[in-house]
Amino acid sequence: MASVPCDIPTIRAALLGWYDAHGRTLPWRAAPRSEGANDPYRVWLSEVMLQQTTVPHATPYFRTFLDRWPTVEALAAAPDAEVMAAWAGLGYYARARNLLACARAVSADHGGIFPDTEAGLLALPGVGAYTAAAVAAIAFDRPANVVDGNVERVMARLFAVETPLPAAKPELKRLAGGLIADHRPGDWAQALMDLGATVCRPRTPLCDLCPLTAHCAGLAGRRPERYPLKTAKADRPRRFGTAFVLFDDRGWVGLEQRPAKGLLGGMLGLPTTDWGSPDMAVVPPIATDWQVAGTVTHVFTHFALTLEVSIATGEGNLLWTPVEDARAGLPTVFRKALDKAVAASRAF
Ligand code: ADE
Repeated sequence: MASVPCDIPTIRAALLGWYDAHGRTLPWRAAPRSEGANDPYRVWLSEVMLQQTTVPHATPYFRTFLDRWPTVEALAAAPDAEVMAAWAGLGYYARARNLLACARAVSADHGGIFPDTEAGLLALPGVGAYTAAAVAAIAFDRPANVVDGNVERVMARLFAVETPLPAAKPELKRLAGGLIADHRPGDWAQALMDLGATVCRPRTPLCDLCPLTAHCAGLAGRRPERYPLKTAKADRPRRFGTAFVLFDDRGWVGLEQRPAKGLLGGMLGLPTTDWGSPDMAVVPPIATDWQVAGTVTHVFTHFALTLEVSIATGEGNLLWTPVEDARAGLPTVFRKALDKAVAASRAF
């Protein structure tokens, strides 16, 4: 392996300089960079939204939330169902419940002011190690070690880490920790994230644009895109089920509120069977003439789902909702099923 200089002050200066020139302008960031504090509420909200989704996907949700609930106290006072519906499409719905629990704790126990240390943030309900570190660094300029998937990738390449993920996580975190300093820690955290998202990209790193090429052991070995190495994953299991799309004679669709606990807990949903083996019994919510509109698929973290979509017209004890409102408030898997049903009902 070709060796490269690991000169931490030079690496830091190069990346912070790059960030000043090329960092992204994002709605939760104070501008100009490194002047003016970032609002902790915005930082916290954005970090919760950005776990597992991209900046372009999360940004419109972030703007909607801020318009509707401009402060943590406003969010704390919002009805659960409204917040869950506004979260629909972001996925990971337990996170929306945690979001509310945290907003309510900040409002009730901290006078609407976020704690300004990593430990204080970590003590809030639903705030994990990543979020506490990110908010401490970005909102309060604390030298916290903020390590997300982007930062892991940058570290794996910079130091040519040969251990595969997930076993490499502690090593990558330790390496990231070694680059932290008291100077501009919030900008440092975001500079690493931006570098990972825009230059040190997963499949096709744009090394020509990278401020760290002189220090990158992965590049020196000529194959930066090899990193981070990954242990082969077992295929996701597949589950099967049926979603029932019942229209009334106004053309409204019958929804139900899912139980608070479990997958998509507390969200609106279509009535469905349990999700399991393909030959499970199919018991519709009402006995009528159901027609098969087609199937939709959706990938969750731990399994893939194939849902057959059955449609009918009828009445029942459901939450009757205009189709456009249902589309806006349903988690993606159900929105796909509803879209399939609407398209089929036009064709039938
Ligand atoms: N991904 C997660 N948090 C981020 C942030 N604050 N800036 C850019 N990308 C991010």
